[in-house]
Amino acid sequence: MKLLAPSILSANFTNLSQQIRLIEMGGADLIHCDIMDGHFVPNLTFGPIVIQSIKKITKLPLDVHLMIKNPDNLLEAFAQAGANNIYVHQEEVVHLNRTINKIKELKCKAGVVINPATPFCLLSEIIEEVDFVLVMSVNPGFGGQSFIKSSLRKISDIANYREKNGLNFLIEVDGGVNKENISSIKDAGCDIFVAGNSIFNTDNITASTAELKQLINK
Ligand code: DX5
Ligand code: ZN
Repeated sequence: MKLLAPSILSANFTNLSQQIRLIEMGGADLIHCDIMDGHFVPNLTFGPIVIQSIKKITKLPLDVHLMIKNPDNLLEAFAQAGANNIYVHQEEVVHLNRTINKIKELKCKAGVVINPATPFCLLSEIIEEVDFVLVMSVNPGFGGQSFIKSSLRKISDIANYREKNGLNFLIEVDGGVNKENISSIKDAGCDIFVAGNSIFNTDNITASTAELKQLINK
């Protein structure tokens, strides 16, 4: 079963509960929440307070993607706010083993994210500990960017590595996913598809969600 995780980064924040209802009706499996601090990435979004509010209005699991400096300081706050899956960037976290363990102690699933310029081999010592590998297919910071094509090879390399080593982490892809490229991303080996612009910046959010969901499960 392949999963669709709409990213609310591109949603209309003046009516977030209605926007979440629309993706639920379209068959969203998770809600992807992009946390940015204006330092790790050149953009600013929201924090645990918003996660806590979202948690109250949906039963969908919350994917919390931390694009922030020193994420260790906020893991507990995000877990308490209702995060189900917490993702940290390999490029930011020095003691990745400690951070992944801390996320698990907080009863969340743990993901590690790699930017487009970061090779997967840097995860070799931690890979058996993680629930998800999140491949950035754009440089993080903004919605609506174009998918970087070399990500396809990276995704299939990761999928091959997983198979060869009998591992069972899930592969997630984030950035520039749309109805034109989602089938090739699936063929490369992706399990969880994040999509912001191609869902929320369309005329019919529910129909766009349903269309992507159908493409990944056909
Ligand atoms: C980018 C974020 C993404 C973003 C994806 O830094 O991590 O989750 O919302 O948006 P689209 O699908 O518009 O590229
Ligand atoms: Zn994201």
